[in-house]
Amino acid sequence: MDLNISVELTSAKKQKPEIDQLSFGKYFTDHMFIMDYDAGKGWHDPRIIPYQPISLDPAAKVFHYGQTVFEGMKAYKTAEGRILMFRPYKNLQRLNRSNARLSIPALDENVIMEALRKLVLVDEEWIPDEQGTSLYIRPFVIATQATLGVSPSEQYHFMIILSPVGSYYAEGINPVSIFVESEYVRAVTGGVGNAKTGGNYAAGLKAQQEATDKGYSQVLWLDGVHRKYIEEVGSMNVFFKVGGKVITPALNGSILDGVTRDSVIQLLRYWDIEVEERAISINELVEAYRNGTLEEAFGTGTAAVISPIGELNWQGDKLALNEGRTGPLSAKIYDFMTGIQRGTLEDPFGWVVKL
Ligand code: COI
Repeated sequence: MDLNISVELTSAKKQKPEIDQLSFGKYFTDHMFIMDYDAGKGWHDPRIIPYQPISLDPAAKVFHYGQTVFEGMKAYKTAEGRILMFRPYKNLQRLNRSNARLSIPALDENVIMEALRKLVLVDEEWIPDEQGTSLYIRPFVIATQATLGVSPSEQYHFMIILSPVGSYYAEGINPVSIFVESEYVRAVTGGVGNAKTGGNYAAGLKAQQEATDKGYSQVLWLDGVHRKYIEEVGSMNVFFKVGGKVITPALNGSILDGVTRDSVIQLLRYWDIEVEERAISINELVEAYRNGTLEEAFGTGTAAVISPIGELNWQGDKLALNEGRTGPLSAKIYDFMTGIQRGTLEDPFGWVVKL
């Protein structure tokens, strides 16, 4: 793969948003990265160019068959002006696992890391440095070959775009309310639920819209076979503190292998808190709620960071967790994770990478 990344700087820099306008994914920086793939030639022409629309043939396979994958990562600016990323290679490895599942040719993780580094440095002045803000990094691949036959594309674009962000949820760091979905399902083992591909998110929109109409931020998916085991919340993995220990759904092939999920499991074990990765039924949670042992719940994700869950709605029953307030364990994990990500706390795991 060509390691020589060319850079074309924009002559028209955009106005940057005010910090209080940020929310999630509304603004994009001045530049983007793009690289092409052609069968027989491989990935080629890596380049940083001014942020701009791209032109695609209407027959491009991504529009018809959804052959696409993406990742979500963040860069942070410390008080001393250092630029930090959190476990970036874990995301790049997952990108290649998603590629493999969607029959997309593998990317060289070192080349992508170099592209990321160069692009973030080119747009360094867009990295917000207030608490709760960061530069969200969205690498993605789309199938661009213009043929309607259902077969893996022979042409692709790999791109990276950057967006200064605040909180993913309107609630900020306050607890979110989640609707446990009993009608629709997100994915099944053997499908693409453990790949980060657009179709998983499109499949969730209807349920999400219905939950939003009822006043909930997101839906919590149950498994597609038994319709009773907890899966994930689409934008985050989930954890529950029950009777002093922490439980989270095992990676069963239909949920996403979250980088924040993995980090939180390691962190809890480092703190000597017992964590179980296993099947968790909704009935088990309801039972734990009723007998007073369901102490806290929270979601984990790059965009969501650590999001406390204040209420679960299961078939009309409203389970208020920790009286709807952020629980002490969720707060402790949030403070630790954001502290090491922003360089204000020592990172005992070696997770943080300086660009
Ligand atoms: C992320 O956490 O980066 C995600 O990709 C979740 C979502 C915004 C789709």
